[in-house]
Amino acid sequence: MNEDIMLMKELVARLNDLAYRYYVLDDPIVSDKEYDVLYDKLCALEAKTGTVLNDSPTKRVGGEPLKSFEPHTHINRLYSLDKCNSFDELRAWFEKLSAALGKQPECTLEYKLDGLTICLTYRDGQLVSGATRGNGEVGENVTEQIKTVKSVPLSIPFKGTVEVQGEGIMRISALNAYNATAAVPLKNPRNAVAGAIRNLDVRETAKRNLDVVFYNVNYIDGQSLGSQTEQIEFLKNNRFKTGMFYKTNNIEQIIDQIQSVDKSALDFAIDGMVIKVDDAKVRGTLGYTDKFPKWAIAYKFEAEETTTVLRDVQWQVGRTGKLTPLAILDPVELCGATVKRATLNNYGDILRKDVKIGSRVFIRRSNDVIPEILGVAERGQNDVDIPKPTVCPCCGHELTEEGAHLFCLNFYGCRAQVVARIVQFCSKDCMDIDGVSIKTAEQLYDILGVRSPAELYDLTGEQLARIDGFKDKKISNFIKAVQDSKAADLPHFISALCIENVGKVTARALAEHFGSIDALSKASEDELTAIQDVGGIVAQSIVEYFSAHGELLAKYKALGIDPVYAQKSEGKFSGLKFVLTGALQQYTRGDAAKLIEQNGGIVQSSVSKLTDIVVAGENAGSKLERARALGKKIIDENQFKDMLNS
Ligand code: IVH
Repeated sequence: MNEDIMLMKELVARLNDLAYRYYVLDDPIVSDKEYDVLYDKLCALEAKTGTVLNDSPTKRVGGEPLKSFEPHTHINRLYSLDKCNSFDELRAWFEKLSAALGKQPECTLEYKLDGLTICLTYRDGQLVSGATRGNGEVGENVTEQIKTVKSVPLSIPFKGTVEVQGEGIMRISALNAYNATAAVPLKNPRNAVAGAIRNLDVRETAKRNLDVVFYNVNYIDGQSLGSQTEQIEFLKNNRFKTGMFYKTNNIEQIIDQIQSVDKSALDFAIDGMVIKVDDAKVRGTLGYTDKFPKWAIAYKFEAEETTTVLRDVQWQVGRTGKLTPLAILDPVELCGATVKRATLNNYGDILRKDVKIGSRVFIRRSNDVIPEILGVAERGQNDVDIPKPTVCPCCGHELTEEGAHLFCLNFYGCRAQVVARIVQFCSKDCMDIDGVSIKTAEQLYDILGVRSPAELYDLTGEQLARIDGFKDKKISNFIKAVQDSKAADLPHFISALCIENVGKVTARALAEHFGSIDALSKASEDELTAIQDVGGIVAQSIVEYFSAHGELLAKYKALGIDPVYAQKSEGKFSGLKFVLTGALQQYTRGDAAKLIEQNGGIVQSSVSKLTDIVVAGENAGSKLERARALGKKIIDENQFKDMLNS
């Protein structure tokens, strides 16, 4: 028996050490499998002896749900932080301190983690309690929940009583992984962690894969810590996870550091930075206000998230016929702009987030993308369900449901989707036909009856003259651009087809792999998913597209649009950039471009510093002039032919 307990002690120490390497240092030293073998061995011994050691990792999985949260009184009060929103305010704070102290104090800089304050008490080296901050004096006892956090040590080398403070966080990668399969998605990392820690079902907490990052030793007996630096050292030596740390007595250096923080590169949310006077004695002379230490301040970043009321939902039809719900909001300020609309992604997303008209919702704006609704902040009294549309809001055609999405399959008769398809087809990243705005595309649909981008190739000058703003020069330029576009390369043409879930990057990968539309159109889902970055959903979209649109593809082929992918690295023009200008006699523009690409060259639409060779036909104009001005190699059609045949 005693031998078993000895063995258990060894196993627990070993497993805790391995977990520390993995979860705190991010530097595992064994495989998951090796860890599992030791863990299973420990489980077997625990079952055999009927004993579970205090710091056994098997305590991290969570047991029966708890009945309620017990109050927990902190040894020392947990203070909050004063805050500022600008560098001028931060400078003013620092100058005031410097004036009071007669010198510039050494200050530390840390992340202000955006989660939930956690306070842990250890006695005799064992974790005895974990609590939320509560009102600063009394919090809620969440010991069992905290034990599920694998980076929190269950035992530490320090044997006195110590109270340590940190921030409970959910990593963004953990949040995304959870949301990928969750019935109800988590709204943001802060809510996610608060909901997990304040959950009486501890098994649920364990599922969230939380972390705690420590920044404060709130109480310690038998030892005095002289500075923030020493606190962080103490925390590290006792195997706690700590965050970024920087120290200087120069406020401009602090500001430089803050400016260099790239929030989007972090796997956890921060809502600012915390600046603290380092030296404990200096802190002592500065003291506290009612709520805050005078020796620390939080510099808050501009919020990217707020709440507002959802008033209505409008459904928009995209180029693939997919309907996207657009939320109409009570206007609210966010990131220096007034936000009135946000996306709800799809119908399934509405159900998952359970948002209703009248609800107060969380909205988030990041990297200038259209704001997104994250979930409900508060239900309104008269909330009403968002009606599920049954017919297309644009053409009245009956909708088809596919997974979370609603589609209008009226491919040639739904104005919104045809217009969106024409605009996409003509865009720079596709066939590069200049001058087709949404308004132009609408007129092409309304006035000329264009129902597919393929019909652009048949338009006459007479017809185009009926479109606003289309005069002689513009008409001839447009017709020429349309004809020139037949030389588009395969990746651009695939992008132009508007296949559901196929963007620019996938289009290129498909072009490289299959080399032609013919080969791509015959590909099976299995062949498609074998390509890196093509998943099952994308593969299905591609197969469905080609099985539905054979006629359209035949029309493109008949028009002479049938690009072949040329491996850029091969051929006699390998890597050379060409511009074609003027009228060629022996080749169409499209054929010449195809020949260049088949030989590994690249065709550019305008002459730039990067251009290598300009092929000038008759009546070449401004491109030829620019090529001369830039001293580029200029060849005529015969020289081009010689190059090809050499
Ligand atoms: S120090 C006596 N440092 O921000 C000072 N707090 O707004 C105690 N927080 O309640 C706090 N990161 O939950 C400190 N590096 C950090 C922090 C931090 C996040 C949170 C903490 C605190 C709140 C104050």
